Amino acid sequence: MAKSKTVFVCQNCGAESPKWIGRCPSCKEWNTYHEEIIPSASTRESAWFTDRERKKPELLHEIKTDEHRRLLTGIPELDRILGGGMVAGSLILLGGEPGVGKSTIALQLALAMRDKCILYVSGEESEEQIGLRAKRLRKSNPLCYIFSETELENIIVQAEHLNPGLIIIDSIQTIHTGLLESSAGSVSQVRECAAQLLKFSKITGIPVFLIGHITKDGTLAGPKVLEHIVDVVLYFEGDNNYIYRLMRSVKNRFGSTSELAIFEMVENGLREVSNPSEMFINQHDEPLSGITIAATIDGLRPFLIETQALVSSAVYGTPQRSSTGFDIRRLNMLLAVLEKRAGFRLGAKDVFLNIAGGIKVDDPAIDLSIIASVLSSNLDIPVVKNTCFSGEVGLSGEIRPVSRIEQRIREASKMGFEKIYISKFHRNVPAKGTGIEIVQVGKVESLVRSLFS
Ligand code: TYD
Ligand code: MG
Repeated sequence: MAKSKTVFVCQNCGAESPKWIGRCPSCKEWNTYHEEIIPSASTRESAWFTDRERKKPELLHEIKTDEHRRLLTGIPELDRILGGGMVAGSLILLGGEPGVGKSTIALQLALAMRDKCILYVSGEESEEQIGLRAKRLRKSNPLCYIFSETELENIIVQAEHLNPGLIIIDSIQTIHTGLLESSAGSVSQVRECAAQLLKFSKITGIPVFLIGHITKDGTLAGPKVLEHIVDVVLYFEGDNNYIYRLMRSVKNRFGSTSELAIFEMVENGLREVSNPSEMFINQHDEPLSGITIAATIDGLRPFLIETQALVSSAVYGTPQRSSTGFDIRRLNMLLAVLEKRAGFRLGAKDVFLNIAGGIKVDDPAIDLSIIASVLSSNLDIPVVKNTCFSGEVGLSGEIRPVSRIEQRIREASKMGFEKIYISKFHRNVPAKGTGIEIVQVGKVESLVRSLFS
């Protein structure tokens, strides 16, 4: 047998080094190198694969492609984010922080595909625990097998025996292969197990749904090292204090990557939110100052979201700035723009900003709404009802155009808004027929004048 070799692997990004180093030169993290034993190539193939016939190259025009071999999951939002269902033989990774609801959505998936045999492998929970959760979800699938196992070789044997329509692995960090000596969850184990599952799924055509944990401190191997192996990478995120969960696709070999699905965690599992705008706008009976609505887009999805600001006199010497769901540095930048361009003395004021629903928004188009809510709170004058905003604010106070403005306008109009503020620099803005008044502003000053004078 060929000799195994010892390498040091960064547990954060998967970089390798022949000797231990304190700081990873690749991801710049400290103290992430762990020793792992890698067997030589000749011992790395498990018996299951060596028995198979070796594949041969095929001519491109002779390859049979069957567009309709997509497997519907029974969860429409998940199908949409996957690009119209699961492709046979694909490896899908769902990453997320602990507690976000990965096991819940995986079990819901297993129960939603009622006419298919499902193999749900859990390395974390016992069969009873999963049974209890299934009771809580109040659904059942007579063909759903639960397998509490961590050894990859056993999983593959059972999967071959059952020949299910889908395999779910919860989670990739808990399973290990006997081919490697390192412990489960280490980068080489995670990578090797995923590579073997990929081969298995490509040979058999069974799609595999992998769950991967992400931890902030990087103690468990992050699914980052898997991103290039798998076909689809989905991230599940959300603040545990709120009920909303966002699922994004960041890589998809069979569909678009900028998809977003929104779920709501209720007492019997995750419920799809098909109209997000309705969720993120609170109905206020009377207009309140400091509250405005932004027409944003996340991925390909336009939705309206409430931005709330509270401006009050600073009690202590240094004014406080706090922001939830929005980058604090960007808030400081917007406040500086207001100070300089609109003559507002915000230096002696505390500013608190909150995006409704515990959602994080990266879309720069939210700037205009944030400025409007800060100004509205500062003056204590509510913004006229049924008004929304969509525009980026530049350093000199100019309102810049944003992407896919027609979609945003359409969404705002659909939600019953009567007025939308956008940048003056948009060309091709639909003039009529949108059912909404479009106000184009070029500078922060003109926004102030239009709103509050
Ligand atoms: P879980 O799927 O175990 O998270 P993960 O696998 O990502 O670690 O679910 C986490 C939380 O979801 C848990 O704290 C309880 C909550 N939950 C509900 O609110 N309703 C439900 O029906 C279920 C099953 C879970
Ligand atoms: Mg779990």
